[in-house]
Amino acid sequence: MVPSGVALAVAVAVAVALALPSVALENGLARTPPMGWLAWERFRCNVDCRADPHNCISERLFFEMADRMAEDGWRVLGYQYINIDDCWSAKQRDAAGRLVPDPERFPSGIRALADYVHAKGLKLGIYGDLGSLTCGGYPGTTLDYVKQDAQTFAEWGVDMLKLDGCYSSEHEQAKGYPEMARALNATGRPIVYSCSWPAYQGGLPPKVNYTILAEVCNLWRNYDDIQDSWDSVLSILDWFFTNQDVLQPAAGPGHWNDPDMLIIGNFGLSYEQSRSQMALWTVMAAPLLMSTDLRTISPSAKEILQNRLMIQINQDPLGIQGRRIVKEKTLIEVFLRPLSQAASALVFFSRRTDMPFLYTTSLAKLHFPEDAVYEVQDVYSGKITSGLKTGDNFSVAINPSGVVMWYLRPTALPVQPWHVVREQAHGKGLRPILL
Ligand SMILES: *[C@@H]1O[C@H](CO)[C@@H](O)[C@H](O)[C@H]1NC(C)=O
Ligand SMILES: *[C@@H]1O[C@H](CO)[C@@H](O)[C@H](O)[C@H]1NC(C)=O
Ligand SMILES: *[C@@H]1O[C@H](CO)[C@@H](O)[C@H](O)[C@H]1NC(C)=O
Repeated sequence: MVPSGVALAVAVAVAVALALPSVALENGLARTPPMGWLAWERFRCNVDCRADPHNCISERLFFEMADRMAEDGWRVLGYQYINIDDCWSAKQRDAAGRLVPDPERFPSGIRALADYVHAKGLKLGIYGDLGSLTCGGYPGTTLDYVKQDAQTFAEWGVDMLKLDGCYSSEHEQAKGYPEMARALNATGRPIVYSCSWPAYQGGLPPKVNYTILAEVCNLWRNYDDIQDSWDSVLSILDWFFTNQDVLQPAAGPGHWNDPDMLIIGNFGLSYEQSRSQMALWTVMAAPLLMSTDLRTISPSAKEILQNRLMIQINQDPLGIQGRRIVKEKTLIEVFLRPLSQAASALVFFSRRTDMPFLYTTSLAKLHFPEDAVYEVQDVYSGKITSGLKTGDNFSVAINPSGVVMWYLRPTALPVQPWHVVREQAHGKGLRPILL
């Protein structure tokens, strides 16, 4: 399906001519937030395969992770992408100027890795950097290499590209990110496109135009890299919800905010904090890209990441990102994500550090419509409560740095069909009115 060089050149020229001033990224991909595994947070730029053969960035790591994804129940739940990050390539391009994988660490080549991953029913992601070097010091994709590198990735059978932004200027990024979108399109291969562009521009208007971004990229990193700590999770959370008026309307099918990887299963989060990251990322309609060692993951971390109802909520077809709707002086916060079929997800989150906190509220206080009755399912315990009326007071016990997460379905509809209003509003690209 890859066009010949000449056809490609023509296709690109036509695309560029037709593209101005902007081209919509309607590649049909990432209709729900991408799910999978990404090497970076857990495995970084560990290239010392002599000292650490099991954990270095090598084809072996990706072969082994693909086996785990296929065999341990991840793939059937939707975790589909297995993504290489930085430090996979040789330090030099080849004589034809093509990127090549490090010959010692990836002796079979990326094409063989893609074939292996595809045979397991998975998809392969790769990493590039719009700049003179990648963040880790490997060859970058300067503007004159954009088309060639897109072509190389397509020929290898890559399904997703994360394009980082180290060592490039604001001007190069403004030119290069849309150019890569056109170059990927011109290959004819469906490739999900993840842009780090906004993270390099502070993530906010006026420097970042989210309308343009949604036309160029399928997902984008808005903010700092996640680290293996609760402080890091909280700083990301604070930034995303402080700026929710800007960020929330930018997300939708085909175009997502990306608060970065799930670090569940690693070293920095407690059990409660792990459950919180999963719930809060889900309410944000965030990509679920795990970065952990699937060969040694604990049963409790696996259970959090494999929660079916959680994944169903994350992957809701409406693709509406949730919002923080309550911030109490008691350090309790409430988040709401509207879902299809008039359902909703609520997350009650505690920033307290003392003991489980009994939080009392009602759906009326959370701006649910009058006269409705709900069936509530606790997403972690599975417990179902029927007949909760909008006006009923209820209490939830929220553990320190933990969450209670609810999935609510109306069993008796309100007089005012608010969900219809919400869905129509979303369809027109407007903000859901009651949120
Ligand atoms: C390229 O863009 C066109 C127009 O948006 C779209 O219909 C097509 O699916 C895209 N192809 C690929 C491979 O992304
Ligand atoms: C973003 O870009 C679009 C398309 O070029 C433009 O219409 C819009 O005014 C810009 N938004 C902001 C906030 O600058
Ligand atoms: C719910 O609690 C409030 C006080 O916060 C009280 O005024 C109200 O009557 C209670 N509603 C019901 C239905 O018990």
